[in-house]
This record gives sequence, structure tokens and C-alpha cells, in this order.
Amino acid sequence: MSQEQIKFAYWVPNVSGGLVVSKIEQRTSWDIDYNRKLAQIAENAGFEYALSQIRFTAGYGAEYQHESVTFSHALLAATTRLKVIAAVLPGPWTPALLAKQIATIDHLTGGRVAVNVVSGWFKGEFTAIGEPWLEHDERYRRSEEFITALKGIWTTDNFTQRGDFYRFHNYTLRPKPLQQHPEIFQGGSSRAARDMAARVSDWYFTNGNTVEGIKAQVDDIKAKAAANNHTVKVGVNAFIIARDTEEEARAVLAEIIDKADPEAVNAFGDAARQAGKASPEGEGNWAKSSFEDLVQYNDGFKTNLIGTPQQIAERIVALKAVGVDLVLGGFLHFQEEVEYFGRKVLPLVRELEAQRLVDKAVA
Ligand SMILES: Cc1cc2nc3c(=O)[nH]c(=O)nc-3n(C[C@H](O)[C@H](O)[C@H](O)COP(=O)(O)O)c2cc1C
Repeated sequence: MSQEQIKFAYWVPNVSGGLVVSKIEQRTSWDIDYNRKLAQIAENAGFEYALSQIRFTAGYGAEYQHESVTFSHALLAATTRLKVIAAVLPGPWTPALLAKQIATIDHLTGGRVAVNVVSGWFKGEFTAIGEPWLEHDERYRRSEEFITALKGIWTTDNFTQRGDFYRFHNYTLRPKPLQQHPEIFQGGSSRAARDMAARVSDWYFTNGNTVEGIKAQVDDIKAKAAANNHTVKVGVNAFIIARDTEEEARAVLAEIIDKADPEAVNAFGDAARQAGKASPEGEGNWAKSSFEDLVQYNDGFKTNLIGTPQQIAERIVALKAVGVDLVLGGFLHFQEEVEYFGRKVLPLVRELEAQRLVDKAVA
């Protein structure tokens, strides 16, 4: 097991409706005041990262969406240690624009910004904003060129790239970012997503899954990355319901599903399943998601971080044991539950991690 402590990120609720497509009460708001306070609570609770979301329009009833790069900067300005990952879509963004924006934000925030390169799954969104829609694996080919360009611009002078999607000629960005280069995250489950991670990304995010399912992905990606002489870390999505008793936590999950908005879940499910099957091998995100899974739109219940602090801490350490480097948490009532997680769950995780290392040293 890694000597490094497992890291924690939370989903920035910069879109309305929270992280579950349900009519259950959610004491979470997508506005900036709520989010600034949440970011401060999270960094004090021990969260290292926050992940913003990019949507130009939503497929599951998230009616309002704040733009991610701008919003991420506002959260960085309100905090001192938290790193904020801004989600972007190749297509609407060009690498030249993003490299420049992020370099400036890096200077404004003491080197705390990162990016999540989203390859796009929702055709309706691209159609709505007049962006050409590429086939699944072509989207990843474009994203890979996008990432190569970002890294090249951030780290070298006279950068030249002659790709099918992006071209640069002796381009020198000034100033370069403060960080050697801001970290690059990406999401996905498909073969193309995993192969791109194993070549160029610093981090790979995947939808929620069982420990066995996640192990299979981690083994696949890390082995491929090693063969490419590349290192990639893995982050896993989880919708976290931590309560003093398991019964309370299970009751919250039951209520979320009971009050799911069937119309919105099914509409999202249609688009998502289409996206899940869009990759040639049919293993994309959501390829196997049930109605219940889709109520949390990145399959976050499947990771099963639902129960008492002790149960959740043990499951997190089990994820770490199969090679997970980061847990990305979504919550029902973000401010209060992020605080509870930091107070009740995180210290137990650190205790278990230390214990495992002692056990290993003795064995
Ligand atoms: C943790 C995580 C965060 C994501 N964030 C966004 C996002 O903000 N906007 C978006 O359109 N897609 C987002 N995605 C979708 C992915 O980038 C990708 O397009 C999708 O998972 C389909 O990939 P696949 O077909 O390769 O499995 C996210 C995925 C994951 C796992």
C-alpha cells in the first residue's frame, strides 16, 4: 500500500440541483456565497482539492450552471491552501486560451489551480452551442492533443506542435505558470479514456464503482502507464453519506432514491447510456448503470461510502489498498457534511493508514 496519505476532493456544487437527481431536501446551493464558505470549510476539514463542473446546458435538470474557470478562481481567491480543479471542454476551449487563463490564475493564487479535461459525452450540449460533435474516440484524440499542447506551452519556449486538431508555431507563453505545470485531470471509463490517461494525464477520475471494479481499472491503467514510462494517479467518485448509525445513513439513501425525479433521471439515463455505449468497446461511463445508480449522475452510490464513520474509513482504506490515490466526494448537504467528514471520518482514515503501515513494517 502507498506510503502517501490518500487525498480528498469534493465536487463543487456550481450547478443547481445538487449532486443527486432527487426531490429530497438538499441544503446545498450553487451560489457563490455558499460555495466560498464551503471551500473554506473544506480546506479546514482536510480536503486538498475541489472539482468544479462544466456544463453549457444540462441533461438532467440542473437548470443553472456557473462557468467553471471563473468560478474556480473565485474559490481560490477565498481560500489559502485548497487546490481547485477547473473543468474544461476541448472544443469550446482552445489550448492557447486555456494555457493563458490558467497561467494567470496560477499567479493570482500562489500556484493552486489545476484543470480537468472533459472530453464531452452529451451531444445535445454541443449541438445547442453550435460545436461540432466528434465520434467518441476522436474526442479523445482531440483531448490528447489538447493536453500535449497545454503541457508543452506551460513548460517550454518556442513551442511547436503540428496536430490534426491544434497547431502551434514557435509559441512562447509569458509568464509561465508558477507550478512546474498545473496538474491535469481527466475523467472517463472507456478504453480510449484509460489509454489517454496512461499516456498523458496526471490524474484519472472514474465514476463510482465497487472495490473490485475499481481495482480492475487501476490495474489496467497503471500497468499501461508504466509501459509508457508515465505515472498516473487515480481518483474515484463516491457519494458519501456518513451518519452516526448505519441505519440513518441507509435511510437517507433510501429516501434519495424514493424521491428520485423519474423524468429527469430517465432523460439523463437515455443520454448517458447512449454515451456509455458510444465507445467502440462499449465500456464507457454509465454503460452498465441502473436507474438507482443514475440518481447520482456519476454512479457515486456504487462506491458504497455509506454508513458510519468507521465503516466508511475502512472502505476508503480498502480503496487505497487497490491503488486509489484520491476520493472525490459528493454530499447531500455539502457544508455540514464536509465538516462532519473532516471531524469524524478523516481522522479514522489517518489512523487506519498509519496502522496498516505499522502492520506492514512488522510483517
Ligand atoms: C469525476 C468526473 C468528473 C467529470 N466532470 C465532467 C464535467 O464537469 N462536465 C462534463 O461534461 N463531463 C464530465 N465528466 C465526463 C467525462 O469527462 C467523460 O466525458 C465521460 O465520463 C464519458 O467518458 P467515457 O465514454 O470515455 O467513459 C466527468 C467524469 C468524471 C468521472
